[in-house]
Amino acid sequence: MRQIIAGNWKMNGTLAGVTAYAGALRAQASPATLIICPPFPLLPAFASAFAGSDIGLGAQDCHANASGAHTGDVAAGLIKEVGAAYVILGHSERRADHAESNAVVAGKVKAALAAGLAPIVCVGESETERDAGEAEDVVRTQLTHSLPEEFIGLVAYEPIWAIGTGRTPTPADITAMHAAIRAALVAQFPKTGATTPILYGGSAKPSNAGAILALPEVGGALVGGASLQAAEFLAIAASARVV
Ligand code: PGA
Repeated sequence: MRQIIAGNWKMNGTLAGVTAYAGALRAQASPATLIICPPFPLLPAFASAFAGSDIGLGAQDCHANASGAHTGDVAAGLIKEVGAAYVILGHSERRADHAESNAVVAGKVKAALAAGLAPIVCVGESETERDAGEAEDVVRTQLTHSLPEEFIGLVAYEPIWAIGTGRTPTPADITAMHAAIRAALVAQFPKTGATTPILYGGSAKPSNAGAILALPEVGGALVGGASLQAAEFLAIAASARVV
C-alpha cells in the first residue's frame, strides 16, 4: 500500500485558490495517495477539480446525527454527497475548541461510517502528559474510547505539542508510539487492526518528511501548515514509499 499524505487545511484557503492548487496536484505524479481536507464550503469545488483523478477529498468534522436541529453542524451524508470520501475526526483543535470528548468523537465516527465515509481519527498527548511519561497511556485511552467497534478507517498520531510548533518527536519516540498504537489496534480490532494506516501529524514538512515516512508503522502523514502550498505538500509526498 502506498503511504497516505493527507492535507488538513484547517480554517484556511479560498474558493479562488482551488483551481490552481488542484491543478498543481494533478500535474505531478506522486508516490503517495494524496488526500486534501479543506473547509466545508470548498468541498464541491475540490470535488470538481479532482474529478477523474485518484486524489482523495475529505472534510474536517461531521455531526454524530444524520440530520436535524444542529445549527452550524454538517451531516456526514452531505459531506459524502458533495464528493468527499474521508473525514478527519477528533482533531486536538476540535477536542480543545469544542470540548469534544472521546465519546463525542466515537459518535461522529459511527455517523461517518454509516454515511460511507472513511474516518481519519486523531489521537495524541499534550506536552505535560508526555513529560509525565503518560503519552502511550493517554493515546491508548483515546483509541479505546474514540473508536467504536465497527471502526474501519485511519488513525493519525498527532502529539499536540508538535502541531504548528515546528517541533517533532524524535524518530525513536514516533517509532515507539506507532508500535503502541499498532498493538492497541490489533487488540481492539482483530480483523482490521493490523492493516489500519497510522499517519503521523505535527510539523511535518519537506525537510523532515523523508525521515518520518521511513519509520516503521508510519502509514503516511497528516499535514497542516505545509499542506497549504501545493509545492510544499508535493515535496512531502515525494518522500512517500510503499509500506
Ligand atoms: P501542522 O498541523 O502540520 O501545521 O503541525 C498538523 C495537524 O494539525 O493536522
